[in-house]
Amino acid sequence: MNTSQLKKWMLLSFMVSGLMSCTQKEVTLGSLDVIPIPSEVVKLDDGFSFVIDGATKICYPEGNEKMKRNAEFLASYIKKIAATEVKLSTKEGDNAIVLSLDNTLTEEEGYELNVSEERISLKGKTEAGVFYGIQTLHKALPITDGTTLAAIPCGSVKDSPRFGYRGFMVDVGRHFFGVDYLKEIIDMLALHNINYFHWHLTEDQGWRIEIKKYPKLTEIGSKRKGTIKERGSKELDNIPVSGYYTQEEAKEIVRYAAERYITVIPEIDMPGHMLAALASYPELGCTGGPYEIAPNFGVFREVLCGGNEKTLQFAKDVINEIMDIFPSPYIHIGGDECPKFYWKTCAKCQRKIRELGLKDTKEHTKENQLQAWFMGEVEKEIQKRGREMMAWNEILKGNPAKSTIVMAWTKPEARLKSIEGGYRTIACPIQYLYFSNAKFNELRGLSSIDRVYSFEPVPEEATPEQKKNIMGAQACIWTEWTKDSVKMEWQMMPRIAALAEIQWSKPENKNIQDFMERLKHQLDIYKVYGYNYKEDIHEAWDK
Ligand code: ACM
Ligand code: ZN
Repeated sequence: MNTSQLKKWMLLSFMVSGLMSCTQKEVTLGSLDVIPIPSEVVKLDDGFSFVIDGATKICYPEGNEKMKRNAEFLASYIKKIAATEVKLSTKEGDNAIVLSLDNTLTEEEGYELNVSEERISLKGKTEAGVFYGIQTLHKALPITDGTTLAAIPCGSVKDSPRFGYRGFMVDVGRHFFGVDYLKEIIDMLALHNINYFHWHLTEDQGWRIEIKKYPKLTEIGSKRKGTIKERGSKELDNIPVSGYYTQEEAKEIVRYAAERYITVIPEIDMPGHMLAALASYPELGCTGGPYEIAPNFGVFREVLCGGNEKTLQFAKDVINEIMDIFPSPYIHIGGDECPKFYWKTCAKCQRKIRELGLKDTKEHTKENQLQAWFMGEVEKEIQKRGREMMAWNEILKGNPAKSTIVMAWTKPEARLKSIEGGYRTIACPIQYLYFSNAKFNELRGLSSIDRVYSFEPVPEEATPEQKKNIMGAQACIWTEWTKDSVKMEWQMMPRIAALAEIQWSKPENKNIQDFMERLKHQLDIYKVYGYNYKEDIHEAWDK
């Protein structure tokens, strides 16, 4: 706002409301130029704005608990970003931010925002839609310390997401992150309109979720004596790593995420990446062990036995307890990086292969088909309870059922292969969306962002019918070399802002230069929250 606009506002405010207290403070203007960029923004640029002061109310429909919680979220954001305490009310009036539901809107997660001098109206088709509108307001607020009043310029926003699946994965197997920190991560996801938290719960290096039927999984499987000192080294640091979530803690995470319209997808990675389970129950493997929880990283030959009935029962039991904890419609059972070294000579695996009549084909070895069968049996257990199975794209080596939802990670072409096969698919290629991948993290400043921002989840060469099978996109953080929250956030931010824009925004609205301008305020928001974003991004503007 320039000086004459400011004077005009102060005069009007004085005449209309007579609130001397408001006119005593200057205002700081926010901006509707947020990340991810909304579908449609109309800025009136008339010098008028909605000013938030101590008398501003957030109104919500009486009796709607979710809308009340939405109002509380908005009040907490205004307090944090603009240092102003506002009240909640179920009675509409002026000087109010009015939250409401409007079932004439067409998009489930869509919202409409109208900012006038007297009020802000925020309508969503659903409470989730209102929540995304609140996130837009959150990011449209100016950062003030309370010495000035925060104002949002008059204008309007119409918005809805491009993809229904907007995911982020965190691996807690290699390193453990406590419940309180996971809640902070969930807040970070909410700030970026992400709606799925994919929780990678088990690894060769640690089993992290309580399973009551198999207590040794956490008694033994959640503890390792140390970790290799650096990549390629054999030397251990002898610093024990341990930790797991009780079922109650996991349910607490599910609740916390659900309040923020985020679904938690649990992953129990099988039949590979199971050394922690094998160390706990050696009879689940082809050789019977002994096995050791891995202190190092990579792909291990020791995997669950694909032909042992007891092993399959174990997998089904675990997945059933997981479904008791997690109401998610999707249950991820891994399927990646499962060498068949022992399966080729294991009597049980080979007997099962014969029993099933599996034969090597040009596309699929019989052992890979055994893996698809094993996972298919677990899928049936998942489907019995009305849920759906997700798996990494290696599952395609074994010709899985068309009901499988594929996470395509190995290369960008994997998503094309998956949708060509008729599978619903989530794009998360390592080359673009593995934020922990050291090779790509070596990129500095703008290029580290641009790599993520330039990724298009829907492959151009696919047919219109195939394109519909792209459910969305996801970024992943694997924690081999991520021991603490500092590195976690350094890897996440600000790439997650670029991710949000490929997940949420219409491709025709995307523009890297414009994004970089909008990113400046997003970084200031990260600072307010104390997030440890990757500061070399400043080089992009400092040149
Ligand atoms: C994976 O990165 N192994 C899914
Ligand atoms: Zn076997």
